[in-house]
Amino acid sequence: MCGIIGYKGNKNATSIVIEGLKLLEYRGYDSWGIASKNHELDIIKRVGKIGDFQDKSKLKKSNIAIGHTRWATHGKVTEANAHPHTSYDRRVAVVHNGIIENFQELKKGLEKNHRFLSETDTEVIPRLIEENMKEGFEEAVKISLNRLEGRYAIVAINQDEDKIIAARKGSPLVLGIGKDEFFIASDVPAFLKHTNEVIFLEDGEIAVINKELKIFNQKTNKELKKESTKISWTLEQAQKSGYPHYMLKEIYEQRDTLKKAISQNDEDIKRIAAEINKGFGTFFIACGTAYHAALTASYVFSKITKKHINVVLASEFPSYEHFLTEKTLVIPISQSGETADVLEAVKAAKEKKSKVIAIVNVTGSTLMRQSDVSFQLHAGPEIAVASTKAFTSQLALLTLLAYACSGKLEEGKEKLKTTASKVSEILEPASENKIKELARKIKNKNHIFVIGRSVNYPIALEAALKIKEVSYIHAEGFAGGELKHGTLALIEEGTPCIVFVAEDETKKEMISNAMEIKARGGYIIGVSPENNEAFDFFIKVPNSSSLSPIINTIPAQLLAYHLGLERGCDIDRCRNLAKSVTVK
Ligand code: G6P
Repeated sequence: MCGIIGYKGNKNATSIVIEGLKLLEYRGYDSWGIASKNHELDIIKRVGKIGDFQDKSKLKKSNIAIGHTRWATHGKVTEANAHPHTSYDRRVAVVHNGIIENFQELKKGLEKNHRFLSETDTEVIPRLIEENMKEGFEEAVKISLNRLEGRYAIVAINQDEDKIIAARKGSPLVLGIGKDEFFIASDVPAFLKHTNEVIFLEDGEIAVINKELKIFNQKTNKELKKESTKISWTLEQAQKSGYPHYMLKEIYEQRDTLKKAISQNDEDIKRIAAEINKGFGTFFIACGTAYHAALTASYVFSKITKKHINVVLASEFPSYEHFLTEKTLVIPISQSGETADVLEAVKAAKEKKSKVIAIVNVTGSTLMRQSDVSFQLHAGPEIAVASTKAFTSQLALLTLLAYACSGKLEEGKEKLKTTASKVSEILEPASENKIKELARKIKNKNHIFVIGRSVNYPIALEAALKIKEVSYIHAEGFAGGELKHGTLALIEEGTPCIVFVAEDETKKEMISNAMEIKARGGYIIGVSPENNEAFDFFIKVPNSSSLSPIINTIPAQLLAYHLGLERGCDIDRCRNLAKSVTVK
């Protein structure tokens, strides 16, 4: 949610920042801006996507620049509200990701001396710095940070010094160390082309980039010695590699990512399985797509391990916090590891001394660092806003844990390997063409309904979410038996309804549910290993018995992709959304 990048070094900072912003656009893309230092601060701000910017001649060369790509929270999408925001004298420029909760109060205090030019919460920051500049830039930033409430990642520059100052509380920031050059960004792919040597900034730390890099503790002002680490992600992984969209690339990557998700250390899995078995109450906590993975896994745990798991949306977790004890096990599941609500839930769990075992994709993410133990999905960078490969990797890893909890780790592994090897079948050109044909047929419909039972009920929710995110068609997922409790009233002649029919104990009931919809004019799209007279359109998937959720998800992802394409949507940057939601 909002992307930040800063650069100081011998290369042209403006082009590095612009290039980095393009790679960060998945975090927000309603407007963008850049400030670079020459005799004065040159500031360019634009509404819209950075790729649409033509007038490159406006970008003067510089050795220090900061940039921002915005996902609006406070204030409409206008040039005035785009970052960087500046001091009134325009000598200080600041980019910010997060929310300053006390900005109204701060603004009131500042309004005597300052005329504010935007509706944002951010603008109070450069104004506070300006008020304190007599103490020097570094000190002014520190004084200002102490006045801020809320969450932030902030990067600031000042016209009179060759310095970048960055600080974080709650929103991510990572430093990139090159040869005689430094980067600071919300996420590693923004500068991966230049360096893979990084230092993750922690909450309450301030980085001062001058000739060298220094990191201080914000409270004590003490300098900290932090070691850099090398990130194993490659630039190739963060690029489209010939695919027209990241989403399609990431769908296809599922041929490999599932295998990577389950190649974990057996001893670690067994140890965590033992923790889950002895835990007094286990919570899966997640948002969005990751929540659907958690919900699916709760069915798997119930079936395989006979263990009840509480699945709670991270944003709703404050209502459940009072159930936490030292014996509770909290398992947050998150692709980015930066989702604000997930991090808040982890904070609450730690306060109650509950054990936190995270399942996360992004290396070095806040969630990974704040949990007692973490399992990485090894899915590589996921750039498209709509999550695909991370979801199936979450399903695979959680399924593996369920098998391990019932002492059947090897059996689980074998089943998952067999399922992973079947993924390629769904991604054959013939299967994708069938889905393209379906997308063309139903692209102008106003509603699409999706049903599934048991483990495939959350897959119906996830399929509907993918369709909404990518094609903007209204879609809703239901448990097989639930559509008739109200929503059946919306079924008209030709209303598309996707029906997941797995070769399991729910098959007969699912077919009956499909028939009920068909009898009211619904157009039945069956996703199943076998055709059935109930289906008007058949999408064949390999039989993967108890692991059908992983397999069934993939045609739904492809359908969402092709619907989005047919409808001319911006596939990788869904309207109004952001990949990483770092505000509550
Ligand atoms: C955003 C993204 C979703 C994602 C959700 C949770 O809404 O657009 O794709 O599922 O956040 O993100 P996380 O990184 O915690 O899995």
